[in-house]
Amino acid sequence: MSTTTSETLPQSQRPPHKESKGGLEGIVAATTALSKVEGTAGQLTYCGYTIHDLVRKTLFEEIMHLLWFGHLPNQKELSGFKADLIAERSIPPMVMQVLRDLPASTEPMDALRTAVSAWGALSIKGHPSITQALAVTARFPLFLAAFHRLRRGQEPLESRPELDHAANYLYLLTGQVPKDEHVIGLNAYLVLLADHGMNASTFTARVVASTESDIVSALVAAIGALKGPLHGGAPSKVLDMLDAIGTVDNAERWLRDALARGERLMGFGHRVYKTEDPRAEELREMARVADPQGFVLARRVEELALALLHEQKPERRLYTNVEFYSAVLLASVGLVGDLFTPTFAISRVIGWAAHVLEQVDHNRLIRPEADYTGPTDLHFMPLDER
Ligand code: ACO
Repeated sequence: MSTTTSETLPQSQRPPHKESKGGLEGIVAATTALSKVEGTAGQLTYCGYTIHDLVRKTLFEEIMHLLWFGHLPNQKELSGFKADLIAERSIPPMVMQVLRDLPASTEPMDALRTAVSAWGALSIKGHPSITQALAVTARFPLFLAAFHRLRRGQEPLESRPELDHAANYLYLLTGQVPKDEHVIGLNAYLVLLADHGMNASTFTARVVASTESDIVSALVAAIGALKGPLHGGAPSKVLDMLDAIGTVDNAERWLRDALARGERLMGFGHRVYKTEDPRAEELREMARVADPQGFVLARRVEELALALLHEQKPERRLYTNVEFYSAVLLASVGLVGDLFTPTFAISRVIGWAAHVLEQVDHNRLIRPEADYTGPTDLHFMPLDER
């Protein structure tokens, strides 16, 4: 018996594909119970909780537990979970040697990707699991801080078991027990950035997981996707923009000139949000408190950028995204610009891992199609006749 599907028909007789705007915009690529992004309402929830409730009242470790186990931990669960995480705070000598061998000029995001990959080659076997997710998540800040110190000619430090994830990361970078306000700011940032629907890096991780590859391969691929300026690579460029603008008086001219050159203003616009990103709302308030002086310039630049974008591209509905005030907040806790994107990865790894686990739990290979637009029916000429 022969069956005729659209794939067995000649190209010219196949039904037309659904009109695509490119970039898979508007395409539902997976189901998830992890986070819900409502682009028109400007809402973000993790497993049913709005980020506005979570951001100031939860430890990043609680969000890990929420995304991986599906519920917020009680005190006993949290203590056990934190102990498991602390037990994983070590860098194997082989991975440390890889970090030592990297040139000091290596981008920290590349160093993180390389260290995670080297660690995975050494440590990861078998089906993705929460145990693996925890082991790799615990090490993200260690790899990054070790590389940061090595590139500055300093020796990496041992973790402090009494410090939570955010505080330990800041300690590993500087060797100083961080100020409470810095820990609170960084913890809130990590909570806000932990998961965000089917963003480019999460999609990447799910595609890799769907091939029944391992969790570290999925995370390494996701780090690569996060690195680009259209995704997680924007915040240091926001800082560059604010530095280049310099003063409130210079802001309008600078922004107008940038738009006239056809440049994108970093920290504005979003594929899904057609109103303000709810994370930007929270980060703005934290930046206002963390760096009142820097905030004055950032706020004025934001107001002018929004006015100009609405004036010049009214149909695009461009608003402030998560990256704009991330830059101000991360700078205020003492991070240098090229650590911003890998610090984003320190947060987002828990979302990536949760998506990998969700994908493998009811897996089907992610394998979309492409509309072929090249030539057809060409006459083949052997090499010596061409
Ligand atoms: N500045 C100026 N114009 C912009 C901006 C911006 N920040 N963002 C979008 N536009 C314009 C584009 O030029 C385009 O206009 P045109 O069609 O007249 O040429 C229109 O808006 C639509 O742009 P697209 O690229 O199709 O929108 P898309 O949904 O693909 O882009 C993106 C979303 C990549 C975030 C975009 O808004 C952007 O480049 N922003 C700046 C970089 C940035 O802030 N990245 C961080 C994103 S948040 C995150 O990933 C965590």
